[in-house]
Amino acid sequence: MTTSAAAPTAPGEAPGIRPEGGAVPVLTRDNGAPVGDNRNSKAAGDLGPVLLEDSYLIEKLARFDRERTPERVVHARGTGALGMFRATADISDLSRASLFQQGKESPVFVRFSSVIHGKDSPEWMRDPHGFATKFYTDQGNWDLVGNNLPVFFIRDAMQFPDMVHSLKPDPVTNRQDPNRFFDFFSATPESTNMLTHVYSNLGTPASYRTMDGNGVHAFKLVNAQGETVFAKFRWVSRQGVHNLAGSKAGAMPFDYLTHDLYSEIAKRNYPTWDLMVQVMRPADFAALDYNPFDDTKEWLGVPFKKIGEMTLNKVPDNFFEWTEQSAFAPSNMVPGIEPSPDRMLQGRLFSYADTQRYRIGANALALPVNKPRVTVVNNSQDGQLNASGRSSNVNYFPSALAPKTTPADAIASSYKIDATVAARPIAKSNNFAQAGVLYRSMSAADKADLIQNLSGDLGKVESLRTRTIMVSYFRQADAEYGARLAKAVNVPLAEVDKAVAEYRAAHPEQYAN
Ligand code: HEM
Repeated sequence: MTTSAAAPTAPGEAPGIRPEGGAVPVLTRDNGAPVGDNRNSKAAGDLGPVLLEDSYLIEKLARFDRERTPERVVHARGTGALGMFRATADISDLSRASLFQQGKESPVFVRFSSVIHGKDSPEWMRDPHGFATKFYTDQGNWDLVGNNLPVFFIRDAMQFPDMVHSLKPDPVTNRQDPNRFFDFFSATPESTNMLTHVYSNLGTPASYRTMDGNGVHAFKLVNAQGETVFAKFRWVSRQGVHNLAGSKAGAMPFDYLTHDLYSEIAKRNYPTWDLMVQVMRPADFAALDYNPFDDTKEWLGVPFKKIGEMTLNKVPDNFFEWTEQSAFAPSNMVPGIEPSPDRMLQGRLFSYADTQRYRIGANALALPVNKPRVTVVNNSQDGQLNASGRSSNVNYFPSALAPKTTPADAIASSYKIDATVAARPIAKSNNFAQAGVLYRSMSAADKADLIQNLSGDLGKVESLRTRTIMVSYFRQADAEYGARLAKAVNVPLAEVDKAVAEYRAAHPEQYAN
């Protein structure tokens, strides 16, 4: 860095703002050349125009004009922290992923987020909350891109853009509108379980530290012998799960979640989570009354085993370079962890890396936050903002001049498929039962908050038909839940029960048992 102990004061610069004594860094242009005047544009005389030849002014404004990259299309508002994951159990019988070797430590970067509103929206708004973890393992990066809630609204990636459009602000008025999103959800009965979660107080966490995190989908785990099982992951907060009643959340400061995380880390009150895993084998599936790869369902009753713990202990030095430019993708997996056939997960395998090539650029994974902690060796090259320093002239494979190996233990598992290719809904959709289990597990106070939160939005829907159909879904989850909601949103219970009967007649397969 160029410094000057006694740089002369430029015209117009107040001498009083200079620190006393010591070397003061010289202000430079992006090309490193010193700047002689940072207050006055080059102008033609006292009353004349500014000149195009003032390339420093143009550079300064042009860089400013380009400070914003596109924000994430969802999960735009987020907060990041760095830390460490330690594997605490031997699960080599389940997965050969090296990060799970008992005692092994892998650095992590976590980004917590809310989903629907923009980058600068208030943190108290009701939403699912993102809990995305990037594990910098010695076999490359594994991203577990989850939410605080264990299920999701829809079960097929085909519906994701429609769902998000309905929840985002109206393209005409630019306001979020329950008339639109309940219009969508009234034709999406599989959302009943997730809506019950979101409108419970889980939708307004007290702190990011007091949220659990869920991978939501099933993943395939593969051991060193090539044997496979299916698994779901969950972060369990050692701080406990604490939420705000909806009425309290609205009174919180705009940035209370970020403030809480950053200030507790600054006080060295480092938050910690246990990583838990549930395991099922294909032989277990027949006994289920739901599809094990349906992300609108939890694997209720399947035991959790603790396999590791994570502590977050550092706020990144630069918000934009770490938190904004972080690129989490469910497709970032390591040997021993593979996708399951979950139709949402399969869509996500494409969508994240695709949006990041657009949002950040082709070299997004070369940025410090995204860069693996192992050396990357491949033939991808060039593109905007490339600084790879590549000097080899062998940018192809295979080559005897500069051989690269492809180890057998990195080959993905092979599996048989015997199916008819078709675009069809899943069998065993069982859309309502788990929402009823959740409702009945709540305390009386939590039930009352749920009814208040949900009716607050559903009650704004003008269409009686939409309100009736929505209530008929909650009624099928639990009769009392539906009856209380019907009253709260002013729908006659007889109409709700008519809608239930119509639904049951149209979907006999769901009621076969
Ligand atoms: C962010 C798409 C379902 C959790 C995103 C982003 C996209 C996206 C495009 C922005 C990524 C970026 O700009 O870096 C989709 C699609 C889905 C889907 C197409 C369904 C097919 C889900 C589900 C979960 C989830 C089921 C929870 C398990 C997240 C999280 C982020 C995110 C946590 C923010 C990651 C971060 O902090 O950068 N999603 N998503 N998404 N999504 Fe999804």
